[in-house]
Amino acid sequence: MAWQRIASFGEIGVDGVLGVDVNGTPVALYRLSNEVFATSGICTHALALLSDGFVEDGRIECPLHQGQFDIRSGKALCAPVTEDLRTFAVKLEGDDVFIDMERPAASAPAVANAAANRKAGDGVRAAEEGDQADIGAIADVNGDPELSLTKRYVWPAEGLTRIPDWVYTDQTIYEREIERIFHGRTWNYVALECEVPEAGDFIRSNVGPTPVVVVRADDGSINVVENRCSHRAAEFCRELSGNVKEFVCPYHQWSYDLQGNLAGVPFRRGVNGKGGMPADFNNAQHGLRRLNVTTHRGVVFASYLHDMEPFQDYLGPEVFKEFEATFDGRKPRLLGYYRHTLPGNWKLYHENLKDPYHATLLHTFLVTFGLLVAGNRSLMLADATGRHGVMASARSERKRVSSDAKKEMRAYRDGMTLAEPRFMDFVEEFDSPWSVTMATIWPNLIIQREMNTLGVRQIIPTGPHEFIMKWTMFGFEGDDEEMTRHRLRQGNLMGPAGFLGLEDNEAIKFVQDGMQHVPGGQHLVKLDPAVAAGSSDSLISEASIRAMYRHWRAEMGL
Ligand code: FES
Ligand SMILES: [Fe+2]
Repeated sequence: MAWQRIASFGEIGVDGVLGVDVNGTPVALYRLSNEVFATSGICTHALALLSDGFVEDGRIECPLHQGQFDIRSGKALCAPVTEDLRTFAVKLEGDDVFIDMERPAASAPAVANAAANRKAGDGVRAAEEGDQADIGAIADVNGDPELSLTKRYVWPAEGLTRIPDWVYTDQTIYEREIERIFHGRTWNYVALECEVPEAGDFIRSNVGPTPVVVVRADDGSINVVENRCSHRAAEFCRELSGNVKEFVCPYHQWSYDLQGNLAGVPFRRGVNGKGGMPADFNNAQHGLRRLNVTTHRGVVFASYLHDMEPFQDYLGPEVFKEFEATFDGRKPRLLGYYRHTLPGNWKLYHENLKDPYHATLLHTFLVTFGLLVAGNRSLMLADATGRHGVMASARSERKRVSSDAKKEMRAYRDGMTLAEPRFMDFVEEFDSPWSVTMATIWPNLIIQREMNTLGVRQIIPTGPHEFIMKWTMFGFEGDDEEMTRHRLRQGNLMGPAGFLGLEDNEAIKFVQDGMQHVPGGQHLVKLDPAVAAGSSDSLISEASIRAMYRHWRAEMGL
C-alpha cells in the first residue's frame, strides 16, 4: 500500500543489522545472504535498540538481556522475551530497499515480482492521504519511540467524517490535550467575577484538570494561581470558597499573598544558627505559578500563555456577539451551583452541543414544548477556527409542530402538559432573535441561555473517560424577586437531573460505553455534506463537529 524507500541495499552488511527511523518509528533491517527483512527496531522486552544486537543463524539477539527473535517471522525464541516483534514487508528495486509499514513480512510480494514503479507508488499514497496532507501523514506524536511500538495515531483516510475512538479513550492523547489545549493557546473559563466580589474572596477552580485558585487582591485585581505549594507541592487551598488575608499552606505553613507571592517561610534562618534555607534563598523566585487573566462583562478567563490574543479576537466576531447578547452589560448575580461527574470524554460535551440533530430526537421536553423542533428557525454557528460554536433556536408555538415532523420525532408526546404553566414563560430581555442559545467556548465553557434560565458550565476533565461538570447558575443585579424565582424555576430544565440535562448526560455515558466495550472503531459524522465543516442553518447537521475536529487535529498535530 504505502511503500517507502528507507535504505540502500549496500548499507546493510552481510548478515548484519541496520537501524533506521521511519517517520519516528525505529525499524531494524537485516540482510540474510541476498534477502532483506525488516522488524520493529525495539525489543519487546525492554526498550533496547535491536540494531545494536547480534545477527546469527537468522536470529537477532537483543544486546540488553540477550532475548532472541527469528528475523523472518519476528517470533520470540527464548527468555526473557515473550512477545513477538512486528515485521514489515520489504521489497528491493535495484539498490533501493522499500518497506510497507502497514503490512507484515509474510504478505510481502516475492522480491522477484517487485516491479512496481516507485513514483507510481508515491502517487497512490498521496491520493489516499490527501485529506491529511496539511497536517502530516504520520503525526509527530508517533515520533515518540515508546509509542511507536504499539500505537499509531493515524486519522482515518476518509477525513473529518470519521472520528477514531482513540480520540476519546487514549491516555496519551488525553495528556497531550492537557499540554496543547488546556495549558496551550486557549482562554479557559475559571469563574464569574460575582463569585469573588471583595478583596480576599477566593474560589477554587480548574484549568483543564489542573486545580487553580481565583482570588481578588486588595487592589481589586483578579489573580489565578496554581493550587500547588511551591515548597513540596501540597494542594494548599482546601476550601471551595472563602475569604482570606493570605494563603497559608497547611503542611509547613509557607504563606502567600493574594497575588501568589511567597510571603513567609517558617524557620527560614534555622534555629540556633543551624538548618534553614540557604542564605541566597530568594522568596521572589518561589511564588505560586500565576496564570494570565482576562475578564469580560463579569466572566473570568485564564491562560497558561502570557502572549494570548485579546478575548474578543479569541472568540471571533460572531461568537463574541452572541457572548455579549447573553452577558449584556448587566452585572451577573450568583444563584447557585450544580456539580456532578460524567462518565465520558470531555469533548463529547462539546459535540453534544454542536449536534442539533440529537436535540430534536432525544429530548421529549424540547420537542413537545416547542423549544427546539426540526423546522424551527435555527442556526448552528461555528467560528472561523471551528473551535467555538453557538446552537441557536427561536421558540415555536406548540401548535406549529407539523404532523410531518411529528412522525420523525418519537420523542414528541401529544398529550403532555405542564402542571406549572409558568415554567415555560418567556420574559423577553435579550437583544437577540434567539430564545435558546448554547454557546460552546473552547475549551471548557458552555454558556446556556435557555429562555430565562442562565448558566455557565465548566468542563473539568479528570481523564480520558470522565469529566466533572460544574454549573454556575446566575441572574442579574436588578432582577426582582419574581424574576429570580422564575429563573430558578426554569432552571429545572438543566443540571444533572434537569428535564433536558439528564438525557444528554445519559447519551454521553452511552457513547463512552460503546467505545470502551467495543473498542477500536470510528464515529460517523457525515450529516449535512453540503457544508464540509463550519456553520449550518440546518439542525440536521454535524458540520460543526467536523469543524471542531479540524481545529483539534491542528492543535494536537494529528
Ligand atoms: S508543602 Fe507547603 S509549606 Fe511545605
Ligand atoms: Fe441535548
